[in-house]
Amino acid sequence: MRSVSAKAPGKCILFGEHSVVYGNPAIAMAINLYSTCTVEEIKTEKIEIILDNFEQKYEFSNYRDLIINFYENRPQFGYCIEKLHDNFNINFENTKISIFSSLIKGAGLGSSASTAVAFVAAINEYYQLRMEKNQISALTLEMEKKIHGTPSGIDNTTCTFGKMIYFKKGNYKVIDFPVDFKILITYTNMEHNTKRAIEKIGLYKKQYPKLCKEIFNSIKKITKDAKKNLKTGNLQKIGLLMNQNQELLTKLGLSNQIISDIISISLQDGALGNKLTGAGLGGCVISLGYQDTLLKISKSLSAKGFKNFIVGLDYEGVKIGE
Ligand code: MEV
Repeated sequence: MRSVSAKAPGKCILFGEHSVVYGNPAIAMAINLYSTCTVEEIKTEKIEIILDNFEQKYEFSNYRDLIINFYENRPQFGYCIEKLHDNFNINFENTKISIFSSLIKGAGLGSSASTAVAFVAAINEYYQLRMEKNQISALTLEMEKKIHGTPSGIDNTTCTFGKMIYFKKGNYKVIDFPVDFKILITYTNMEHNTKRAIEKIGLYKKQYPKLCKEIFNSIKKITKDAKKNLKTGNLQKIGLLMNQNQELLTKLGLSNQIISDIISISLQDGALGNKLTGAGLGGCVISLGYQDTLLKISKSLSAKGFKNFIVGLDYEGVKIGE
């Protein structure tokens, strides 16, 4: 029986979230935490889909049954399956598709993009569809739209191609960072909703267009400055810029008390910089510092009940194999 697996990294946004939705630049890194999708041949004509993180198992008697009954529950996967069926004439029968992610859901770490990328890549390999990485990324952006409304495309791009990237209007350039780049990620214990956060900023932009433009312009400047300093590995300056970006995200109403508390603890222990990452209003905080400082912060935050982990860069993006 044939079986194919693909794994895709998660992501974290270092600079420019939200502002990127309006065509400004942002910087993201692919992180070495992964989602995996396995497509296996099974004996029956059925289609089985297993969403491990949700402890959900779906069983469909055929492709039609799947489209009728899966689309509403999981529109991103339903959309993708329909699209691949229409484009490549595959009906997915005789397969079991299992998806698992080690990323916390709704935490700004790209769990939806990462699982979508792994899903498309595994199906691409299983059916030998010969889609290139840019086609995989484009399809997962459409999947992301089904759940996040109007995403910029930075999440699917980072999860597909890996590395650290400077992203603007669908295009990206790799940033080569001269030292081993590590970041501490701390979960606020609050799941966030990306769609709602994007809508909130959209409303804010309508209500206060001038103020919003000024904030986005400042974020843009910080992001450009960060790109230069990332290239030279100036950690101190990068930390300062992260703090400035955080202040602007706070002005946009995307921070909260828990995020501030995590940042205070981290600063007390000597972090070079901190900010929320991704949609905000919960999710995760990222902290920059030298290795021993990160370990110290990690201990302090764990003692306060905040789950945290030190991550590094993923260099490869999505790939075949577990
Ligand atoms: C989500 O990871 C980042 C946002 O900027 C939305 C997007 O760019 O799609 C909030």
